[in-house]
Amino acid sequence: MTAATEFEVLPERVARFPFPFPRDTYRYSTNVEPAGTRADTAAGGWGEHPVDMDGFLLDELAERRRVLDADPSRFQALGHMEVAQWDAMLTLMKMLAEAYPQTFALDRDGTVRRWSNRALDLEQAFVYGQSATLPEPPLLYIGRQIQEDVVLLDQRDGALWGDAGLVTFAADWSLRFDVGMSFLQIHGPVPRIHTEGVITRAQSFLMGLHAGQRYRRTNWTLTVDRRLDTATETYPEWGRDRRLLAEGPLDDVGRRLHLRVEVQHLIRLGASGAIMFLIRTYLLPFEEIALVPEWADRLYRVLEELPEDMADYKGITRTREPGLKWLREFGGVRP
Ligand code: HEM
Repeated sequence: MTAATEFEVLPERVARFPFPFPRDTYRYSTNVEPAGTRADTAAGGWGEHPVDMDGFLLDELAERRRVLDADPSRFQALGHMEVAQWDAMLTLMKMLAEAYPQTFALDRDGTVRRWSNRALDLEQAFVYGQSATLPEPPLLYIGRQIQEDVVLLDQRDGALWGDAGLVTFAADWSLRFDVGMSFLQIHGPVPRIHTEGVITRAQSFLMGLHAGQRYRRTNWTLTVDRRLDTATETYPEWGRDRRLLAEGPLDDVGRRLHLRVEVQHLIRLGASGAIMFLIRTYLLPFEEIALVPEWADRLYRVLEELPEDMADYKGITRTREPGLKWLREFGGVRP
């Protein structure tokens, strides 16, 4: 049987899942590669468009709305980021119209631009740079229409600064806490990367990007249930689920424990010179990872080998053992 026929019946969310492990061990690195080309996996592929729409679009936009209503501080923009916000909005609109012409269109009539989004039945005329022509700040306006979280980084004084963002699906961090911090300060809590030079190399790389250049990388962790909002702010709602899962029946683990993968795009904007950081979160339960034996096997080896300090930082010290056990007993993995 060929790989294609073997996996013909895989659901789209599995076939398009950005499985992140190229080898059996995982360590932090400045893992960036040029964006916009399809990355093949054992089940299919991902990554054709830096802004990715899938079958979860409407659910995830409703979830973003719910999170923002409950906590408006998930949107942050320092005053000097006005130009970068407009730049980001227009760039995202152009990217969407180019990637999905059936759904999005951006037209221009003199100074007036017309945006149409058929997925949400939206039509909006606006004048670039004039805030009165939009119902809300530009980053918030466009951020409600895409599945990606967005951070905008200003470049000045030889460093990058996270000075604006719309982040409703953070993996255990807080935009409200981080806004206004430098790239190095934002990464302060991450173990190993400072002594290993990962983050200073990443910053130099990002500061050297030219207008229009696009790169991508992945990051990952484990999450209990299909929960996108695991921000520090809502920790009391989701933190204990990790212990409860570990104490509960092994049967539930395949359905409830998810591999959480972030596809992150890094794009230098042209008009403002800001760096636009897009974070798209994909969640796949272990029982669906196990549909692809190669993935189950690799996930097993990575989890088993991951050093304690990295597991601790990722918040998976309680869940990795049940995950490994489930993969052995139900996921077809031979240790
Ligand atoms: C966390 C690397 C770009 C914001 C991390 C982690 C690594 C990393 C290794 C730890 C992740 C984990 O174990 O789960 C990098 C590299 C980048 C990059 C190599 C670029 C090439 C960015 C950018 C931002 C950002 C542009 C935008 C502000 C964060 C945040 C965290 C994080 C907020 C969580 C920190 C916390 O625990 O509070 N990054 N990153 N990263 N990164 Fe990055």
